[in-house]
Amino acid sequence: MPQFYSHLGPSMTSEYPEADARVEEHYRSLLAARYTWMMGGLDSCLNGARELLASTGALEAGAGSVLDLGCGPGFHARALAASGKRVVAVDNSAALLRELSDVCAGVGAGAVVPIQAELSDTERFASFGPFKTILCVGDTLTHLRSLYVVDELIDDLSRVLSPGGLLILEFREQPRDLSGQDAVLTLRAERDRIMQCVLHFEPECVWITDVVHEWADGKWHVMKSSYPKLRLSAARILSRAAAAGLQVHSDSRRAGRRVLVLTR
Ligand SMILES: C[S@@+](CC[C@H](N)C(=O)[O-])C[C@H]1O[C@@H](n2cnc3c(N)ncnc32)[C@H](O)[C@@H]1O
Repeated sequence: MPQFYSHLGPSMTSEYPEADARVEEHYRSLLAARYTWMMGGLDSCLNGARELLASTGALEAGAGSVLDLGCGPGFHARALAASGKRVVAVDNSAALLRELSDVCAGVGAGAVVPIQAELSDTERFASFGPFKTILCVGDTLTHLRSLYVVDELIDDLSRVLSPGGLLILEFREQPRDLSGQDAVLTLRAERDRIMQCVLHFEPECVWITDVVHEWADGKWHVMKSSYPKLRLSAARILSRAAAAGLQVHSDSRRAGRRVLVLTR
């Protein structure tokens, strides 16, 4: 790692156990409270979730449980519950699970079961399965601490997916390094809040530093926080999925992200 970035942490070319704590702290201290805003606001997020689910066939009629891994504020959980499905919604962020309860209020008592857990702790939610649909969308997979943990998760999910069920994975591949001014992105800017991120590319991960400026009490308040995101390749995921007995139902791109729909 270049000296300038050495404060961010060690390289992720091997297992980096601190990554989980780093990601969790990033959501706790900066991102959870601003996630829905950063993503464009609730209505836009709900519409986007419905579009993704409709395009992958996940909203089609038929009972059965759905597992939403890294559910965040519940945009997908709400659309699924509104179409009559029971959703087991897993996330390790207490703040985002509280937001999910508000977002999903009114879609039917017990239709959404929130579970605060690590994605890789499959024993915490496997007993609710087998699942007719499993989602890990919105770039959640890239938050795991190593490519090996992603491999293991695919194996575990293939075991709790019903025969004929759908495993929907949506993630950014980040195949190309960005540097200089191209590595500074403005995520959203409004009069009283501006959110930007600075990217630093390593072979297996991208360090994201979010920078938020908020105007309050007559001055700008600045917050910064960094966390690593894995650089995933669809080829690796497809090969692991095939070894776990999953076939490709569809493979597409949406808003710069790869969307793989796998079936058993
Ligand atoms: C980029 S957000 C995606 C949220 C939602 N799926 C969406 O599409 O808007 C990633 C989510 O995964 C959660 N998360 C990240 N790492 C996790 C982990 N190791 N275990 C459980 N949840 C995790 C975060 O709290 C966050 O809600």
